[in-house]
Amino acid sequence: MANPVSGFSKKTKEEKIAWLASHYLYDDPEAVSVLKNYWNADPQLQRLHDDFIENTLTNYYLPFGIAPNFLINERLYALPMVIEESSVVAAASNAAKFWLDKGGFKTEILGTQKNGQVYVNYFGKKANLLAYFEEVLPSLKASIGDIEKNMKKRGGGLVDIVLKDSTHSLDGFYQLHCTFETLDAMGANFINSCLETIAKTFEDGTVRSQHFKEAEEYPEVVMSILSNYVPECTVRAEVSCAVMDLNPDPEKAGEFAQRFVRAVQIAQNETRRAVTHNKGIMNGIDAVILATGNDFRAVEAGIHAYAAKDGHYRSLTYASADNNIFRFGIEIPLALGTVGGLTSLHPMVKLAFQILQKPNAKELMQIVAVAGLAQNFAALRSLVTTGIQKGHMKMHLMNILNQLEANSQEKEKTADHFKERTVTHTAVVEFIETLRSQS
Ligand code: MEV
Repeated sequence: MANPVSGFSKKTKEEKIAWLASHYLYDDPEAVSVLKNYWNADPQLQRLHDDFIENTLTNYYLPFGIAPNFLINERLYALPMVIEESSVVAAASNAAKFWLDKGGFKTEILGTQKNGQVYVNYFGKKANLLAYFEEVLPSLKASIGDIEKNMKKRGGGLVDIVLKDSTHSLDGFYQLHCTFETLDAMGANFINSCLETIAKTFEDGTVRSQHFKEAEEYPEVVMSILSNYVPECTVRAEVSCAVMDLNPDPEKAGEFAQRFVRAVQIAQNETRRAVTHNKGIMNGIDAVILATGNDFRAVEAGIHAYAAKDGHYRSLTYASADNNIFRFGIEIPLALGTVGGLTSLHPMVKLAFQILQKPNAKELMQIVAVAGLAQNFAALRSLVTTGIQKGHMKMHLMNILNQLEANSQEKEKTADHFKERTVTHTAVVEFIETLRSQS
């Protein structure tokens, strides 16, 4: 077992790798060369990546692909996607193509406000706290003047501060619930800086206030942080068409619509299915979020909370087939940035924005929602017809062949063999073994 190390972050990269190798990798030169093989050949570019986090040793590759033919509000996009799961980009591309000649995707921004809270302990008389809040509110707003100057110039900034009594859920629990407009920035740093300044002004003011007599009656700030739950920053994306346009065979079209709508209803009612259903949606959402350098953990946390907003975890999508019209849509919260963070630093992120024709935050919200809807459409379309494994394993075939260290001739023969056959791990292993035994 290795001993704890101190001052690790101060070591050079070479020293860190040497330490790791001697403590955890049995000084295996191959392991060390794997780390070094993933360094960028351009030292300046490598330094840029090194500086994103602490203790960078190397880079971790994920495929960066595109799904073309996305018609969104009459405009054609190719969506950049970063993901390891083999079938996701193919599924997105199929869904995009399916809807291309049916009017494409229509989207709408429902709100753009973000929020954060200053959490306060207060065990005195509520009326005194309310009176103090009214008194201090102008100072709270004024105290962030410098921080929000630039944001305000562009039309954003603090929207409001409301004192919330949350003592019904926890004794002495109050909050300063602050809402913000952060325009094209995701706004985490801006919001957190505003909140910490508001918190300090709030706490400092209590000492001068007449409303609190005894020291133990003073409100006390516990913490201040933005919320990744943004139900006032939401977007809707939809597709629709005549039921008969879903399949050239009218009988199949009707049956498909029915089964599809039923599948969504099941995900609206059964948590076990809803989680997997929404995971499929996140396949598309996360892939575009990653490609555009946004915070997928924030988006994941916020979206899943939204899926459970009525106290029951449900499907994020909805579907209907009434009066012979098939409608399928999604409504999700998304706090995204097209400026700040990695967006102006990471070369691949910059490229992703170029591919997307330099969207603003609202446009990116719409594109990301479409990626989620398309992914869900593709998954449900397979699930209620052929089953998921056919397409999934076809895309996974290359991974199996790479695991088996197949050469290009073997890959070609295997791909040919499985064109009309079901791919399973065992079947591929058997086929490769037979090929190898013959040669
Ligand atoms: C796999 O990554 C995603 C699916 O399971 C989604 C779904 O079941 O709807 C296919």
